[in-house]
Amino acid sequence: MRITVLTGAGISAESGLATFRASDGLWENHRIEDVATPEGFARAPELVHHFYNQRRARLAEVAPNPAHHALARLARMHDLTLVTQNVDDLHERGGSAEVIHMHGELTRALCAACDHRWPAPAVMRPDDPCPACGKPTTRPDIVWFGEIPYHMDRIWDALDHADLFAAIGTSGNVYPAAGFAQHAARRGIDCPELNLADSANSRDFTHRITGPASQTVPQWVASLTAT
Ligand code: OAD
Repeated sequence: MRITVLTGAGISAESGLATFRASDGLWENHRIEDVATPEGFARAPELVHHFYNQRRARLAEVAPNPAHHALARLARMHDLTLVTQNVDDLHERGGSAEVIHMHGELTRALCAACDHRWPAPAVMRPDDPCPACGKPTTRPDIVWFGEIPYHMDRIWDALDHADLFAAIGTSGNVYPAAGFAQHAARRGIDCPELNLADSANSRDFTHRITGPASQTVPQWVASLTAT
């Protein structure tokens, strides 16, 4: 069976990483416009680097949870395309070999001048030179608001050929990812939503599986691998 799964911050919440849309509307005490937009970075590169340096340090302190491990098992049984909006590497550390990071990766650095990418050092600074072109134009390899998500052709193609689409732990607020369920459901395939609560686009799914991802995802995967 061909399966496409989209994950969001909710799958990493039980590992100890904060989700984006907590009730106060802030991301780890910062306004999204300040730390997740090109304009915010142009205004205050030191602050933005510091913010992602902290996120990278936090990542080193947490571990994948049973939901990440379950998706690695799913890939061994079915033809899985795993798409994540998360910039953490918990899917990889949970055993998933191929992960499409549509919003970039905390562990990667990007040169804004020449587009070269390389493994991010633990601490990045605005005047770090790019290892390829030497310009001090390095930034986290994160897709900020107003920028185009990565690998979209591959993702739409996977959705067009999937027999099943599931979204796990995402609030359905950020497009294009929030449009995947409607796109897949129009093709008449099964589209479960796995979430703790209703999302902004719950009605686009064929059904909902409600509960914490560390419990619902292993159960859901077991139900698929048993068939
Ligand atoms: P959000 O923080 O918007 O939503 C997290 C979702 O996870 C919510 O729907 C919660 O109900 C759900 N959730 C929380 N804990 C859960 C648990 N233990 N089990 C299951 N579900 C749980 O995060 P995203 O939808 O991923 O973009 O956010 C999308 C994008 O907005 C992010 O990729 C990021 C952000 O700004 C960029 O960085 C470009």
